[in-house]
Amino acid sequence: MSPQPNALNLISRPRRLRRTPALRRMVQETNLTVNDLIYPMFVMEGENQKVEVASMPGCYRYTLDLLVKEVADVYALGINAIALFPVVPEAKKDETGSESYNPEGLVQRTVAAIKESTPDIVVITDVALDPFTSHGHDGLLDEEGYILNDETVEVLVKMSVSQARAGADMVAPSDMMDGRVGAIRDGLDEAGFTDVGILAYSAKYASAYYGPFRDALDSAPKSGDKKTYQMDPANAIEAIKEVELDIAEGADIVMVKPALPYLDIISQIREETDVPVAAYNVSGEYAMIKAAGQNGWIDEKKVILETLLSIKRAGADLILTYFAKEVALMLK
Ligand code: PBG
Repeated sequence: MSPQPNALNLISRPRRLRRTPALRRMVQETNLTVNDLIYPMFVMEGENQKVEVASMPGCYRYTLDLLVKEVADVYALGINAIALFPVVPEAKKDETGSESYNPEGLVQRTVAAIKESTPDIVVITDVALDPFTSHGHDGLLDEEGYILNDETVEVLVKMSVSQARAGADMVAPSDMMDGRVGAIRDGLDEAGFTDVGILAYSAKYASAYYGPFRDALDSAPKSGDKKTYQMDPANAIEAIKEVELDIAEGADIVMVKPALPYLDIISQIREETDVPVAAYNVSGEYAMIKAAGQNGWIDEKKVILETLLSIKRAGADLILTYFAKEVALMLK
């Protein structure tokens, strides 16, 4: 570097710290590491099969036997935790989602099998009725199709306890019923599972970004939408309220979902709370990047890393993302 005259008489030149890769690394404020990642995975009935989700290229529904092997690989890559979602056969669905607390249900069997083969990975199970109900809603319906809150919470407690009994490390209520975190905490404690944690989907919005996930699980609501329980995308103050309630009720980790359209919410919640904050980079966010990447419209790998880094910079301590495995490989 040859000396240059200070023609503009500048004292501060921020570019000084951007000049070389080592300087840039030295002043980098945010780091994305494999420890930040939680990998959502889909399990289905059957044997020796993996089926790609059409709207989520690179994501598969695995049968239990193959999923267990995949989980071992995922843990070997350094990913600490998975979030498990079941594909429930139509024949096992009913009005009240009773399959959700079957001790021999798919989730319960899968958790037990993972805990046999890869005991150290953190297994997080989803608590919501939508994959289990014939109508596809997250709770029980009254005659008018309105979701009943307190009756639903009773089922969610049974579901959580049965997941804990199967070996889940954390349960993750994603249903948005009022008071469910406190009721689940009580239920777990009464059953002796004082060390099973709760990752609460606290600020979960009624979002169109969940479309591909509902394809993956065949869990789209048969009628209506989820706006009477999931949050209005227009609201931010209400998100703080939801988080405060969940923490008061015993949430160990709070979550914002989706992530990218709600970076402002992540950032506000990080400032307001003293528990870890997670963000869910949801199926629609994944699908958009994959689609643009497949078309050659963006540099997919760079966009993935920039996206996840942004979610961290906004304040997320943990990110649930379908990119987790790919990113773990990239960071290696
Ligand atoms: C179920 C649930 C949903 C997602 C996670 N848990 C769908 C929904 O609420 O309709 C969405 C995840 C994603 O889109 O990646 N309650």
